[in-house]
Amino acid sequence: MGTTEPLVSEVEGMSLVAREVVAKAKYSGRVIINAILGRQDGGIALIGQKVIVGGWVKTGRVVGRSTSAFLELNDGSCSANLQVLVDANVAAEKQLAQTGTCVLVEGTLKEPPEDKKQKVELLVEDILHVGPVDSSTYPIAKTKLPLEFLRNHMNLRARTNTISAVARIRHALALATHTFFDKNGFLWVHTPIITTSDCEGAGEMFQVTTLFSEAERRDQEYAANPRPTEAEVEASREAVLQKGEILKDLKSQKKNKKEIEPAVQELMKAKDIVSRLEERLKRKPGMPRKDGGGIDYSADYFARQAFLTVSGQLQVETYACALSSVYTFGPTFRAENSHTTRHLAEFWMVEPEIAFADLQDDMNCAEDYVRFLCQWLLDHCLSDMEFMNAMFDKTALSRLRMVASTPFIRITYTEAIDILSKVTDKQFENKVEWGIDLASEHERYLTENVYKKPVIVYNYPKDFKAFYMRLNDDGKTVAAMDVLVPKVGELIGGSQREERFDVLISRLEEKNLPQEPYEWYLDLRRHGTVKHAGFGLGFERMVLFATGLENIRDTIPFPRYPGKADL
Ligand code: 4AD
Ligand code: MG
Repeated sequence: MGTTEPLVSEVEGMSLVAREVVAKAKYSGRVIINAILGRQDGGIALIGQKVIVGGWVKTGRVVGRSTSAFLELNDGSCSANLQVLVDANVAAEKQLAQTGTCVLVEGTLKEPPEDKKQKVELLVEDILHVGPVDSSTYPIAKTKLPLEFLRNHMNLRARTNTISAVARIRHALALATHTFFDKNGFLWVHTPIITTSDCEGAGEMFQVTTLFSEAERRDQEYAANPRPTEAEVEASREAVLQKGEILKDLKSQKKNKKEIEPAVQELMKAKDIVSRLEERLKRKPGMPRKDGGGIDYSADYFARQAFLTVSGQLQVETYACALSSVYTFGPTFRAENSHTTRHLAEFWMVEPEIAFADLQDDMNCAEDYVRFLCQWLLDHCLSDMEFMNAMFDKTALSRLRMVASTPFIRITYTEAIDILSKVTDKQFENKVEWGIDLASEHERYLTENVYKKPVIVYNYPKDFKAFYMRLNDDGKTVAAMDVLVPKVGELIGGSQREERFDVLISRLEEKNLPQEPYEWYLDLRRHGTVKHAGFGLGFERMVLFATGLENIRDTIPFPRYPGKADL
């Protein structure tokens, strides 16, 4: 963005002079506002140029009785607005000045009066499009609205400064993710969204089924065509017997084909009625059920139970065990009934998986990746980060700088418990003792109070960790690691994977998980097993960490949480 093309023009027939012409957006024939305001000189070198710009009015005001409208125009390409002046003789300025109005205008860039903070403004000569606003119903006409309020207007909230800045930061983080893994030789693998295996074994999956619509269809069909009575069926069977007798008689009388044919037709019709009645007799309303009464999933779309994935890890392991370094980046779903500011029912996860790698390699990769993301935002998204820093969290930028430049602390779970159990300046809600799963309050205390930087806690007790994590030699802990960061707590969860077939089987048994759904996963250990490790970074938690927002529901365009799935 903000690119320019040199234009060589002849001036007064004397010499060739190079002048910059602002480049048009390739597919919309207009100039994006960031190409003007995002320049180092704030657009000064472009003064005098004629441009077409489009956008939505942030604020507008009409000056004088019939003079001009001043519009602050934003097209989402950057957080800054272009100041646009429209003379009364060019358009009905009152309509244009409504917040939310869309305009496409042609005009000349000029120098604003001295006291203005912008370096250029646009004097409009022609209005090419107006998308008016019904100001009596437009919900986000005010400039500063609470984020909670905006969550009820997800279709329009991207027009606000905050949500559009978050969108650009998300984009930058996604691009940084692909850049990091590509640079380090990882292949992006698209793992399925619909799955039949529960990766985390926690039973927090949303079911994918067509059985409810099937049950409704069966209900309707049943209501329209109720079950025939036994007497009706019996009578139709009787009719078949009768028609059969008639035909037999005709045949014994050696009637010719022409004389027999109507009786044959009659018999066939009667048989057809019986089979249709018998079919209706078998039909039942509601869910297809097995004889024992349980739901008959063989009648479901996939002929078995299926779910939305909680993690692409198990599937991406199949590619790691063939292509070595891979990652998956896609939506994941958890049906946990969490109403916290850190949980979503639908969130995106970045999950690298590395063959021939152990827990140390895994931690090195996680640390490098997170630091890369932070540096990327400082290098590519500074003005949006400055906006978040000014509006939401005065420590957002310094936190990014700190993480980008500081090695992470690494401590074992046992050390973490030891440190937490000696804490005197805070009363934890959850008791600290070896064997507990660390709660968010513990995680945040470690990273925010004790170390004031990212902390990787590793070697957790096996009891509350997933079955696939590699059992350590102590028999009590697994080679798991969590990356904890200030503001958020757990950002990453990962582990070295159990590559030993027998140990994996006994871990499944310990967790009371059935072996059958994991047979394909066990095959990776039966055939060509290898040491490998990986982790998952919660993408929205990363956005939360970077932006300093308080609630994860504002880090994703369309948040889903209990009771909420708008649009
Ligand atoms: O720690 P988790 O559950 O790990 C896994 O799913 C592994 N299979 C990953 C792997 O090894 N490939 O989840 C990973 C991360 C968490 O650290 C957290 O950042 C995020 O995903 N996360 C959530 N983010 C938003 N809402 C939720 N409900 C989340 N649950 C987990
Ligand atoms: Mg976790």
